[in-house]
Amino acid sequence: MMWIAPAAAVASCRLSCTSLRIISRGSPTPWPWLFSVRCVRRVSSIPGTTPKEVTIEKDKVYKTDEWMNTPSTILSAIPRRLHLQQDHPIAITRQLIESRFPNYKCHNTLFPVVTVEQNFDSLGFPADHIGRSRTDTYYLNKDTVLRTHTSAHQADTFRANESAGYLISADVYRRDAIDRSHYPIFHQMEGAMTWDRDSLDASTSLKQAVWADVAKIPAHSIDVEDASPTSHPERNPLQECHSAEEVEAIAAHLKRSLEDVVVAIFNAASRAAVAAGETPASPDEPLKVRWVEAYFPFTSPSWELEVFWQDDWLEVLGCGIVKQDIMSHAGVPNRLGWAFGLGLERIAMLLYSIPDIRLFWSTDARFLSQFSSAAPIRRFVPFSKYPTCFKDVSFWLRSSSSAAGGLSRNALSPVDFHENDVMEIARDVCGDLVEDVRLVDEFVHPKTGRKSLCYRTNYRSLERTLTNDETNQLHERFRQQLVEKLGVELR
Ligand code: DAH
Repeated sequence: MMWIAPAAAVASCRLSCTSLRIISRGSPTPWPWLFSVRCVRRVSSIPGTTPKEVTIEKDKVYKTDEWMNTPSTILSAIPRRLHLQQDHPIAITRQLIESRFPNYKCHNTLFPVVTVEQNFDSLGFPADHIGRSRTDTYYLNKDTVLRTHTSAHQADTFRANESAGYLISADVYRRDAIDRSHYPIFHQMEGAMTWDRDSLDASTSLKQAVWADVAKIPAHSIDVEDASPTSHPERNPLQECHSAEEVEAIAAHLKRSLEDVVVAIFNAASRAAVAAGETPASPDEPLKVRWVEAYFPFTSPSWELEVFWQDDWLEVLGCGIVKQDIMSHAGVPNRLGWAFGLGLERIAMLLYSIPDIRLFWSTDARFLSQFSSAAPIRRFVPFSKYPTCFKDVSFWLRSSSSAAGGLSRNALSPVDFHENDVMEIARDVCGDLVEDVRLVDEFVHPKTGRKSLCYRTNYRSLERTLTNDETNQLHERFRQQLVEKLGVELR
């Protein structure tokens, strides 16, 4: 099957492009579902009572079913749309990138509830892809999800065929870990550019038309490492319907356009660093970027762009040549081109030096007043660092034998245990007062075979000092909910 990445490609695609994380070779990917295939589990990720229907933004009503796993805290954040809030760092970052694509049509108000068809099927995700799992994705019902990426709108935007180039910025939703660079709602920008074979004049080939467009992209002088061939028959194949020369030209247009974005972002970030009195990047060490092979179900060949930033390679975006099937199903079989996707939080955190992703959701004037679209980008000045307080919770997972022993019917067996459910409970109980939740210990009892896990929760408010009582109460509720919802046994 085309979309299952060859082992070598999987190994080289460490990360997808949506969270701020420094790439360390061999570390587990934070978004493994883009690359790996596992069985979709149909069990409820967290048992509980489900409303019969949910209403979003007053008039959009969705019937729920046993797939529903979206907590009200997530639903109530939908109207926030940080990417549209005037002078919000996410909105400013969006505008900065949009300014590098002057003739592209911008779609910034697409609704976040989409069908499984839009989010997965239209993009060629296999039926058993882990991304479809209820542990990873918020469902309203079996056919309806909160989009997990802006690519969910690719097919429809190609079908509407309103412009050769487009950008889509939007809020996206994923059940995920809790730490300073992950939040269940974040923002992505999708971009695409296509050419129409049918609208070329008789004397111009598609590749000539594309190369003519490449020449219009502003030149830059950064150091770009691009060691792999544009395509590779096993690792990063050309699609049958594309010639190597066409893909060479489209890949050049894609790479040059995105290098231009990166130059704009990192120049702004360096100016902000200098203005803040930080050591400017040495002129002997100019901005370095590199292209690496990647795998996405909806592009081939595919790449990621990494930037050398603060002593490490940082993945900035994913992209590739759009699968021709997507174009054909969208009724535009004669168009071909490229697409990319990037995480706006990741870029905003780096532009402004914002240390914690939760800050974007703050309505505290001490945060919001620091940003203005009318002024140059400046480093964020933390208004205060409130103390953190960590607490551990250790528990035994339910084993199949104890499940047979008649514990609560709602409880899940160990096979069903998923870390994202622990994260969801922590968010539900503690909201933005939890900074991160990490597995710090795990072991299997040598005699009983039962598995024990210990999670460390860091409590910290970004806006005030938490009292001891408050953290104790939060932690106690967290422990109790773990028992009630996951059927674990506290130790
Ligand atoms: N949708 C991908 C993600 O969520 C990002 C992405 C990668 C978008 C490659 C694209 C693309 O359009 O071509 O991480």
